[in-house]
Amino acid sequence: MKCRKCGNKASIHMRQHKLALCKEHYLDWIPEQTERFIKKYQMFARDEKILVAVSGGKDSLSLWDILARLGYQADGLYLALGIDEGINYSHESQRLSQKFADEHNLKLHVVDIEKEYGKNIPQLAVISHRGDGRPCAVCGLAKRHEMNRIARDLGYDALATGHNLDDEAAVLFGNTLNWLSEYILRQSPVLPASSDGLSRKVKPLCRFYEREMTAYAILRGIEYIYEECPFATGSQAILYKETLNQLETARPGAKLTFFLNFLEAKKSGNLFVEKNVEMQRLHSCPRCGQPTSAPELCSFCRMIQKAETISTM
Ligand code: AMP
Ligand code: FES
Ligand code: ZN
Ligand code: ZN
Repeated sequence: MKCRKCGNKASIHMRQHKLALCKEHYLDWIPEQTERFIKKYQMFARDEKILVAVSGGKDSLSLWDILARLGYQADGLYLALGIDEGINYSHESQRLSQKFADEHNLKLHVVDIEKEYGKNIPQLAVISHRGDGRPCAVCGLAKRHEMNRIARDLGYDALATGHNLDDEAAVLFGNTLNWLSEYILRQSPVLPASSDGLSRKVKPLCRFYEREMTAYAILRGIEYIYEECPFATGSQAILYKETLNQLETARPGAKLTFFLNFLEAKKSGNLFVEKNVEMQRLHSCPRCGQPTSAPELCSFCRMIQKAETISTM
């Protein structure tokens, strides 16, 4: 497989885009596309201050890298959650986030939940009895709260997270399976700030596949934490991602189409709208008498009529 831009050996082949690129051109293509999405969804402008929520994983570190390369004013925020049983997940992800910031001369704010509130996430989960025994619900709640607090208190114009297409498609899939229409309607690449104190939230990577972000991080030489949070094992999100991956294998592009068609339907106001107008326009077919929206004969009668003319020829 050859790079479409220069003809050298390709490093990555993206079946869903019918596009293969060498390392150099791939590392240009990702920021170009990101810039396109930032503009398309009107996420933020060059003179605005962005706070990137960095977890030490490939997506958020790559996002920070891309925004810095594009010349945006982007500082980082790392939330120390205190999840250190077993693999030292929080310590290691903080170390890698700090290392990235230092090497690229970027500013990283660190907020330690335990220092701030006296308890870490696993301890808060035990105390609060929220969720299914995992600390994930408490963790999500604390992350949303703290990200918004810091973005607002420090005067950032927008808060950016590293959610990729696989994340977004899995959330949409889960919400659709359960018909959580309010959540579905709220899912978006950009949520505007609200007058009551919610900061603007943006997801510049929401149209990139997870494997595209992994490739970017590796080809850029970004050191990131490979392990998922130890509490993520067996979660619903992982099940939905696996299901969508099966679909993607059978139909390349399925994940992207699922997400983009959703955004399109939402934008054109076609989501959850009953088409009563259409129903009213039905009339009865002059040949069979059944209701139809076709101008004259219903589609079935037209087919039979055609068949009749052919058999008499
Ligand atoms: P997750 O919910 O773990 O899939 O993470 C989604 C996004 O939330 C990441 O891409 C980051 O932008 C952000 N994030 C997750 N964990 C942290 C953290 N400990 N500190 C700051 N941001 C985080
Ligand atoms: Fe929060 Fe796993 S429980 S990252
Ligand atoms: Zn090339
Ligand atoms: Zn008919």
